[in-house]
Amino acid sequence: MPHGKSDHVHQKVDSLLALMTLKEKLGQLNHLKGNYSTDIYEQNVDLNKAIADGEVGALTPFTTMDNLIRWQKIATEESRLGIPLFYAADVVHGYKTIFPVPIGQAASWDMEAIELSERIAATEMASAGLNWTFAPMLDVTRDPRWGRVMEGPGEDPFLAGEIAKARVRGFQGDDLGAENTVLACAKHFVAYGAPEGGRDYNTVEVSQRTLREVYLPPFQEAVEEGVATVMNGFNTLNSIPASANSFLLRDILKGEWGFAGFTVSDANSFYELIPHGVAADRREAALKCIQAGSDTDLWSQVYIDHLEQLVSSGAVDPKLVDDAVRRVLKYKYELGLFEDPFRYLDSARMTKTLMQPAFLEAARDLARKSLVLLKNEQKLLPLDNQSRKIALIGPLAHSRQYRDLMGNWKAAGDMNDVVTIYEGLVKRVGKENVYLAQGCEAFGKCPTELTNQASAIARKADIVILAIGENGYSTGEGASKTNLSLPGNQEDLVEAISKTGKPVIALLFNGRPLIFHDLKRKVPAVLECWEPGTTAGDAVMDVVFGDYNPSGKLPITFPNDVGQIPIYHSQLNTGRPRSGPDDKRWGVSKWSDVPNEPLYPFGYGLSYTNFTYSKMQLSDSVISKADTLLVSVDTTNAGDYSGCEVVQLYIQDPVASVSRPVKALKAFDRVCLEKGKRQKVVFHISVDDLKYWDDKMNYKTDGGIFHVFVGSSSVDVSKMTFRLEDLQ
Ligand code: BGC
Repeated sequence: MPHGKSDHVHQKVDSLLALMTLKEKLGQLNHLKGNYSTDIYEQNVDLNKAIADGEVGALTPFTTMDNLIRWQKIATEESRLGIPLFYAADVVHGYKTIFPVPIGQAASWDMEAIELSERIAATEMASAGLNWTFAPMLDVTRDPRWGRVMEGPGEDPFLAGEIAKARVRGFQGDDLGAENTVLACAKHFVAYGAPEGGRDYNTVEVSQRTLREVYLPPFQEAVEEGVATVMNGFNTLNSIPASANSFLLRDILKGEWGFAGFTVSDANSFYELIPHGVAADRREAALKCIQAGSDTDLWSQVYIDHLEQLVSSGAVDPKLVDDAVRRVLKYKYELGLFEDPFRYLDSARMTKTLMQPAFLEAARDLARKSLVLLKNEQKLLPLDNQSRKIALIGPLAHSRQYRDLMGNWKAAGDMNDVVTIYEGLVKRVGKENVYLAQGCEAFGKCPTELTNQASAIARKADIVILAIGENGYSTGEGASKTNLSLPGNQEDLVEAISKTGKPVIALLFNGRPLIFHDLKRKVPAVLECWEPGTTAGDAVMDVVFGDYNPSGKLPITFPNDVGQIPIYHSQLNTGRPRSGPDDKRWGVSKWSDVPNEPLYPFGYGLSYTNFTYSKMQLSDSVISKADTLLVSVDTTNAGDYSGCEVVQLYIQDPVASVSRPVKALKAFDRVCLEKGKRQKVVFHISVDDLKYWDDKMNYKTDGGIFHVFVGSSSVDVSKMTFRLEDLQ
């Protein structure tokens, strides 16, 4: 925001603050549910009266435009100071036009497409009356048992940081006052993605170094990009709940990073200090949260109920409340809500805005970019236009239930708008050429009768496409699990179909890495499709029929076995590393029953074409602190199709004062080449890319040798070495 404008907003905020009673101030920190209710949260308030009394600052409704208008009218016309409400919602991968789930988007490694998806989500939600989204979700995670893997950026802090910036830019644009931008919310601060055992809401214990290197970076990027709000995690971090964690909120977020926006609790998380065992009652929960630097209270109402007394008794400094309220009001001005509280509340605009053809096209584009080709023996894919009979089999082939193909955070998305896989296929080859069988019930149970039916149609067909995996309810909040195999007995279906001897293509739909050894062995082609969103069937068929050459790369490691978790590419070495996968010696770091290697590594993904790498070069073999090292490589499309490749660069610091990852992603470039074409890709590495947190928590680098790896995945790389001159 230009300086003049921001001074002007500060003056307005100060003038308004001077008129407010303490209760009215607390009202701005109190966020209620609107119509939304579940049995865990008891609201017990007369909502209309609370709004009229100035005791509500924001609502989180998915409701009609009429309700939104009615509540905004009460806030602005009946409350003493007429302060407008924020309307917030979880718009996590689209509002009405549903984009692929975020883990799928991350697999695109395409920051422009991700930014555009949020631009569209913001445009749609703002037209429907909402001005604040609880996204982006920036929880790095290395545990696919955790159900919220689906909502996040995957396992790597650098990739997550790039995604954080793209999403914040997409939602907020460069002017919050525009009609099609909304407040973004970086969540869940922080390390919520590392719960013990992968069980949602569970304890998190991470060292300060891991916190700073792995979990904080995407949030810092979001803050630097100007994110307006940050949501506390539900978790304890090293025994202190995030909502009451002043080290996180005051020292790091508002102190070190100078965050100028406001924080919001997670749903009821202030209250949850009581079951966490750090507050005796709601009053003490309020006290601890405000002291720690938590600004607003989502749903637990402990601030509105207790801070007045805590301030008047002297237990809480009124300046803490004023600071939080200032942060909130600033954004009500910046959104333009004081000038026109109804600016987002125009049904005619909403009708014109939602699901425009260009939005659906962008969703289809991101969906096909998110698909990852895991296996493609004998170039079974892509299919050509030759006429043949195709058997499409599986519980996810033509489902319109359980948020299948769309994903769990569907916002206003409608299952009836989803192009199913069956519909996408029929559009391509005609109904007469497709035999459809469900094979299994919705949650993956495949009774013999359905399997037999499926085998029978497979035998009649020339080729089989399986649409299998998880349903839409299987990932998301509260959806942790310990078994990552294909749900139910879908592997039996795979076995039965592969026995027919027909060529089989498996389309996998899931919001987390799954483990599927038999499938991998028996089926020649496997395409990871995640949960592709509204345009699922069209996007998937674009890839199956070769109109789009798959370019996705895994943003998270697929384990070989649940017992390997956590398994990720940027692990530390041990004192007893193996010399290679065949090293069977006793006493080296390995499992005796499963390999150390994952099923599929981070950064992996095939293409219909063949990209080759040559002429990897460094601009220098020795650099000083002030230099930038140029790392270049020629990438050639040596195959038969045009396509895009994500060129990845990793660094290792083999000798430092603390142990460093065997490989850390530091840069990537998504390069699109016609067949036969070559491009030089150049990366710029500065001393900042070589820094780490030492044993005294200084962010620094030592001189010495560094390895740089460039290639097409975290394991398929070439290595070079350079030296950083000693900085002392
Ligand atoms: C989730 C948040 C979400 C909030 C509001 C919580 O249960 O953890 O991600 O934003 O609910 O719906």
